[in-house]
Amino acid sequence: MTQTTFTPRVFSGIQPSGGLTLGNYLGAIKRFVDMQGPDFETVYCMVDLHAITVWQNPADLIHNTRELCAGFIASGIDPAKSILINQSQVPEHAQLGWVFNCVARMGWMQRMTQFKDKAGKNAQNASLGLFGYPALMAADILVYHATHVPVGEDQKQHLELTRDIAAKFNHDYGVDFFPMTEPVIEGAATRVMSLRDGTKKMSKSDPSDASRINMTDDADAIARKIRKAKTDPDALPSEAKGLEDRPEARNLINIYAALSDQTVDQVLAEVGGKQFGAFKPMLAELAVAKLGPISAEMARLMDEPDEIDRILTAGSLRAREITAPILRKTYDIVGMVAPV
Ligand code: TYM
Repeated sequence: MTQTTFTPRVFSGIQPSGGLTLGNYLGAIKRFVDMQGPDFETVYCMVDLHAITVWQNPADLIHNTRELCAGFIASGIDPAKSILINQSQVPEHAQLGWVFNCVARMGWMQRMTQFKDKAGKNAQNASLGLFGYPALMAADILVYHATHVPVGEDQKQHLELTRDIAAKFNHDYGVDFFPMTEPVIEGAATRVMSLRDGTKKMSKSDPSDASRINMTDDADAIARKIRKAKTDPDALPSEAKGLEDRPEARNLINIYAALSDQTVDQVLAEVGGKQFGAFKPMLAELAVAKLGPISAEMARLMDEPDEIDRILTAGSLRAREITAPILRKTYDIVGMVAPV
């Protein structure tokens, strides 16, 4: 079979389930911004259909979707360069998701660690949607024939599943239709950790607000949380090797590197030998300088919700020019009678 060439296209998504963290910004949004440009078509999505796999108050979901869109734009995603959508306005995501429910195997889904983490001990009471979530995620990506997906480290297993689903579909139907998407998990901050415990991921669902920096935190809150961040008593090392058994130190250095667009080695060349008492104010100053303008712009955009809604509507029209033909072709391959 001749190998199909796919247009270089980036897709990624974030759940509008309330509260963007520094982890979302450094692990995802900042890297979405970097991928805009001549090399790729870029599509970025507020995955509202994924959000309702756990209960969402409807009014909050609308607010959080707009706030996430404001966060994307305030961080530098330009609606003229990238397609910005909320998932539910592009029905082909859910339609292809159904086809993939019929491709993915129960055994594959049962191995997904994120389901186990989220459902916890109460798996019998979790929604069917939460269990099937990764098949819809595969559809989000493959309904654009996306070739590259920038995400944080925690999404790696879902992207492997996406490749498994694409390969099984192609194999079962004897086609070379869906691409083998490349995960893009790069940079110093692919896994930003809790400020209270360097072995736990920074997350919006952590009960302690001190564990995370929220994109809406003001300068005082950012500085306070960094000042109180857990550390160890030693001075900072001059080489990355010296961070190996020091999760909290490594996390703060990774955050500094990602915020300042440097490598860890470059940062350590500058701050190696310093105590945390000297390093934390540097980090706080940098974080406030980078995040302050973003949260101010988010607040300004949130005053114009109609403008946000227009951007999402326009994005969905552009998106459907890509997704509708790919869904139709999928249906043709599967054997669904087409309208005449
Ligand atoms: P979500 O909403 O949990 O997170 C959105 C993005 O933020 C990254 N991220 C982090 N990166 C580094 N450190 C952290 N502490 C951190 N916390 C979150 C995540 O890795 C992710 O890139 N299933 C996805 C949403 C999704 C999706 C998609 C992503 C749905 N369909 C298709 C890519 C392609 C999720 O729940 O992300």
